[in-house]
Amino acid sequence: MVRLGPKKPPARKGSMADVPANLMEQIHGLETLFTVSSEKMRSIVKHFISELDKGLSKKGGNIPMIPGWVVEYPTGKETGDFLALDLGGTNLRVVLVKLGGNHDFDTTQNKYRLPDHLRTGTSEQLWSFIAKCLKEFVDEWYPDGVSEPLPLGFTFSYPASQKKINSGVLQRWTKGFDIEGVEGHDVVPMLQEQIEKLNIPINVVALINDTTGTLVASLYTDPQTKMGIIIGTGVNGAYYDVVSGIEKLEGLLPEDIGPDSPMAINCEYGSFDNEHLVLPRTKYDVIIDEESPRPGQQAFEKMTSGYYLGEIMRLVLLDLYDSGFIFKDQDISKLKEAYVMDTSYPSKIEDDPFENLEDTDDLFKTNLNIETTVVERKLIRKLAELVGTRAARLTVCGVSAICDKRGYKTAHIAADGSVFNRYPGYKEKAAQALKDIYNWDVEKMEDHPIQLVAAEDGSGVGAAIIACLTQKRLAAGKSVGIKGE
Ligand code: GLC
Repeated sequence: MVRLGPKKPPARKGSMADVPANLMEQIHGLETLFTVSSEKMRSIVKHFISELDKGLSKKGGNIPMIPGWVVEYPTGKETGDFLALDLGGTNLRVVLVKLGGNHDFDTTQNKYRLPDHLRTGTSEQLWSFIAKCLKEFVDEWYPDGVSEPLPLGFTFSYPASQKKINSGVLQRWTKGFDIEGVEGHDVVPMLQEQIEKLNIPINVVALINDTTGTLVASLYTDPQTKMGIIIGTGVNGAYYDVVSGIEKLEGLLPEDIGPDSPMAINCEYGSFDNEHLVLPRTKYDVIIDEESPRPGQQAFEKMTSGYYLGEIMRLVLLDLYDSGFIFKDQDISKLKEAYVMDTSYPSKIEDDPFENLEDTDDLFKTNLNIETTVVERKLIRKLAELVGTRAARLTVCGVSAICDKRGYKTAHIAADGSVFNRYPGYKEKAAQALKDIYNWDVEKMEDHPIQLVAAEDGSGVGAAIIACLTQKRLAAGKSVGIKGE
């Protein structure tokens, strides 16, 4: 093993020259299976746009297109102290946000690891755990108490229907969550009840999707923001539509939300193509779906988000093992465990800087108890690239669909999430994919007309700004939901 310098060298492509013909054949087969051509992306975008429209219609469709009741753009002048609570995929975060009023803010936050058993536990366990974390935070930062209850923006990153901004009925869990007694219920009173049980001086004023938070937080600092997207455990996007374009709100709007008013829409487009009409699904995607807690749901997310990328790889590797191509005479019992390969696997494998893929060797030996040959590792590396690239190319189809629907020729797409931030080469892959869709004749990705840019903290700062906008509306006697809510 030779390190090329004091710092880790960049990941290398590596030569495939020593890979024997039978494995090369397998690799070519995988390439065909996982490659998404520019033409295919364009046809996906076309279908995507019609599905977004369907979601806004009265009849509805697969994509929920949930109006989020953020009916203003932030001005950057919002001020005050707000709490934000972020229940995303893996962690729980409590953030105190001090909005400075000049496109600026300060944050103080605590992160709590969500114990694994809670993902599939009971509703009571979930809400009481959250309330305990909130109490710990408030006790720490407000030891002398507060004169008025602290307003809280709750980022609940699951599809929740909202008749008003401080309510959200969970349609269904996503991202492997499966907690009984929450689907079909409004989550705000459940949380508020536990908050009151512990006598915490907190008032939940707004329920926010992480994508909507990202959109608003980034718009607070960057006026060119047109979408907020998350590419992490899940995949989703939010944008501002105009009320008159949201057919399903016809007849439901209060007078102070006029037809020209903006409205943030949480698309929930992880559910795009649940009908399986255009996405290039492989047999591995079919297995993932069938063995998930919600088969038939989140078709797009299951091919693109961090929760599933390692699992797709694992299923391919198992298949190759079963057909006798790799890991001969090895004990693969560990690899047989569903979801044992999280996204850190493809991520580390793609990041491996060594010609002989030494880091990948370590990873398989230490975590999976499998000795790999150099040739096997080259295949593994190729597979990681294929799965990651497919994810990026499909993901930007959602971005392109929204931009085309809204007629945006230039845009900053504020992106957040573990895959976007930490998956090696993801940003470049996504930029290349957008370039392929639009045929841009522009070399540098910094010059692309539509760019994915690193977002502000949507679930923290975005939630706080939305809580602030909501409080202002309420103080002025304005509505924050459908007529009569
Ligand atoms: C899942 C959730 C969605 C969230 C996304 C990213 O798709 O359903 O609400 O925005 O993950 O966290």
